[in-house]
Amino acid sequence: MVATTGEDRLERALGQVGTPFLVVAGPEGGFELVEADPDGFDARGGGRVLGYLPACRPDSLGDASFREEHGLRYAYASGAMANGIGSAEIVEAMARAGMLGIFGAAGLPLRVVEGTIDRLQRSLGRETPYGFNLIHSPNDPALESAVVDLYLRRGVRLVEASAYLDLTLPVVRYRVRGIHRDGSGRVVAPNRIIAKVSRVEVATKFLSPPPERFLRELVATGEITAEQAAMAGSIPMAGDLTAEADSGGHTDNQPAIVLTPTMLALRDRLQSQFGFDRPVRVGAAGGISTPWSAASAFAMGASYVVVGSVNQACVESGTSDAVRRMLAQAQQADIAMAPAADMFEMGVKVQVLKRGTMFAMRGAKLLEYYRAYDSIDAIPPGDRASLEKMYFKAPLETIWGQTRGYFLERDPGQVERADRDPKHKMALVFRWYLGKASHWANAGDPARAVDYQVWCGPAMAAFNEWVRGTFLESPEQRRVETVARNILYHAAVLTRARTLASQGVPIPPGVPRLSPLPLAGIEERTVLLV
Ligand SMILES: Cc1cc2nc3c(=O)[nH]c(=O)nc-3n(C[C@H](O)[C@H](O)[C@H](O)COP(=O)(O)O)c2cc1C
Repeated sequence: MVATTGEDRLERALGQVGTPFLVVAGPEGGFELVEADPDGFDARGGGRVLGYLPACRPDSLGDASFREEHGLRYAYASGAMANGIGSAEIVEAMARAGMLGIFGAAGLPLRVVEGTIDRLQRSLGRETPYGFNLIHSPNDPALESAVVDLYLRRGVRLVEASAYLDLTLPVVRYRVRGIHRDGSGRVVAPNRIIAKVSRVEVATKFLSPPPERFLRELVATGEITAEQAAMAGSIPMAGDLTAEADSGGHTDNQPAIVLTPTMLALRDRLQSQFGFDRPVRVGAAGGISTPWSAASAFAMGASYVVVGSVNQACVESGTSDAVRRMLAQAQQADIAMAPAADMFEMGVKVQVLKRGTMFAMRGAKLLEYYRAYDSIDAIPPGDRASLEKMYFKAPLETIWGQTRGYFLERDPGQVERADRDPKHKMALVFRWYLGKASHWANAGDPARAVDYQVWCGPAMAAFNEWVRGTFLESPEQRRVETVARNILYHAAVLTRARTLASQGVPIPPGVPRLSPLPLAGIEERTVLLV
């Protein structure tokens, strides 16, 4: 029995997340928590029953079918982070902790991605969960297709598909390859897609069957049979859809509290239209880094949660210690939008860290020059000299020489266009800076510290606020499993507290406290019986 005359006792009962309690009226007012007989409402304390505090274990948060289908213990994923920031080490640590890690393949050469497939298939085995990013590359459709070829050839069975504005042949090809009926006649698509979206138009495509025009093309090229194309009409493009709210990197800055319900409602509407065997599950990403945000995502009906920013700050990520230290300092006002290297000319922005780096400001300045002038030569000489000295540390023509060489190898069409169009040449030169800035950050190049481009969302600041004054304040202590287990454990504690409050049981402000714990402490409280 846990009498609740003291807040500590209430805290303790809430923290024993595997143990259900009955709330019974105390002899002298107030209430007590009595360990409940899970088979019945037996108020052994003798008092009137005021409420029921069910068990809520971290591994029961989210959707059971998500955990089962992907072979996970927890409905929790580490989203892809480009250039291997979402590293093999993160994917391995997540898998070993019963969670899903997505390797950040974007921006990496194919041979590096293939090397990582080798590594993960060796270290984790084929059955252990892992996924790879399949990122839409509008500027390089051949690359997107080559990535799909690689994944199909190497048996990568799960991708996080992102940055899509519309479906493409490669992503459809990935989804329908190998589609068949099982012994009971049910259609099975062996390749699973978790689509990450922030817009209704794009979500609609992933919540619908693969478009017929692509299926016809795949039949015509012999990729699939007409029978397989017919089967594909009965499955959605994605089995899971992550609603990505305001996040690090590319983002539409949507509030999670608006976006998640929008996607849930859309899912329900399209499910009644198409009647899939199983409705597409909707997960939540963007802003999740604390027990409060995770608990609210699950309460809204998210089947799973995806984190990004907070994992970049962990020791396993592919960034540098210098960046990890900067991330550990980030506060609410330290985040800004800055021009994106990949879609600079279109004015697309990414969310980055502002504190300790001048990248956001310098990127904005380059966009201003790009909009104001038609060529590098039109930039006033004084301005150009200062760009060369401060940003590029070299004459712009030297930078163009390097950029030209790079594109001649990868995409010579860009050089032809730049030779015809000086504004395009200016864009490519400016994109040199924007692109290099994230490599300088990942490498921790001390000569370029003020130019670091660090993709980061407000989730980072929320996390820092939560862990201030605890062992997780130190960047060296931040490991993806410790962070994840703390978020989930305390989300479970919080969920229990709100369950009691919703039954009219008074919960004092500040209870529960949700202080981060070492893994052993979580383990103990999760299994502990009173
Ligand atoms: C450093 C960094 C790099 C990212 N790179 C990618 C990427 O290459 N592909 C992708 O789909 N999402 C990328 N994201 C988004 C994350 O996978 C995730 O969806 C997002 O970070 C979740 O929001 P949060 O930052 O608020 O946690 C990146 C995020 C960060 C912080």
